[in-house]
Amino acid sequence: MDIHKLDTYAKSLIKEAAYNIKTSLTSELIIESKSEANDLVTNIDKETEKFFIKHIKADFAEHRIFGEEGFGDDIKDLSGFVWLLDPIDGTTNFIHQKQNFAISLGIYKDGVGILGYIYNVMEDTLLSGSLNGGAYLDDLRLPRLGASSVEEAVVGINARWVVPNRYVHHEGMVSLLKTVRGTRSLGSAAIEISYVVTGKLDAYISMRLSPWDIAGGMVIAKEVGAIATNLAFEHLDLLDADSFIVSKPGLHEQLLTDYIQIKQNPAD
Ligand code: IPD
Ligand code: CA
Ligand code: CA
Repeated sequence: MDIHKLDTYAKSLIKEAAYNIKTSLTSELIIESKSEANDLVTNIDKETEKFFIKHIKADFAEHRIFGEEGFGDDIKDLSGFVWLLDPIDGTTNFIHQKQNFAISLGIYKDGVGILGYIYNVMEDTLLSGSLNGGAYLDDLRLPRLGASSVEEAVVGINARWVVPNRYVHHEGMVSLLKTVRGTRSLGSAAIEISYVVTGKLDAYISMRLSPWDIAGGMVIAKEVGAIATNLAFEHLDLLDADSFIVSKPGLHEQLLTDYIQIKQNPAD
């Protein structure tokens, strides 16, 4: 498999999918709830995932697709080529703001991330990365990330993790909020990862993300020296939902050691 050709192919699919999403913005959306009332999906999320699957299956019959909306394959392992796709990451933003949403795509071979993409659809910017090939914002190669102290850090985090919750001891999170320079919550995990990669955030933390939210971003983040793990400092297997942190190197360790204590037995 020629990785350069695969990269060119994936980029052109993403651009075409994004064009289709943009042209759909004038039509009325069909909005449904999934696991709970605020877990939303639209007809455009579904159509976009089907668009990718139709093309990938036609052009790379042996490749498998792990997509959020479930139109791809039933993935139980990452053997061979697997495309991990979130057709629209930030669906709530897509519905409410018509901006701040992204196509998130990672291409893995035997469990190793080889290509990653985060396309901010309305901003028309493509963040991409390839294994040992660096990270790019459109055609601009991104520098490796420098160090940052907790006191000077701007951290991406959702407010729900700072009040009592089932996943993390909130006292440590309150202490983190009181220490850092600032916090932001953007509503798209992929865009928040892209902000860490480009240095607009120093870290991004979430208690629950799915493989398609992070697969593309992890490939890119690695190329600028960011560290991505779950909040127990473990490797992410990209088969199930897990907690997540991506951060500048030293800061990553300090946040996990001094501030973030996950609950051993998550309870409501
Ligand atoms: C969601 C967004 C959101 C994150 C959620 C994700 P979706 O993805 O990335 O920022 O907090 O956990 O599920 O549903 O918009 O694809
Ligand atoms: Ca998502
Ligand atoms: Ca989605």
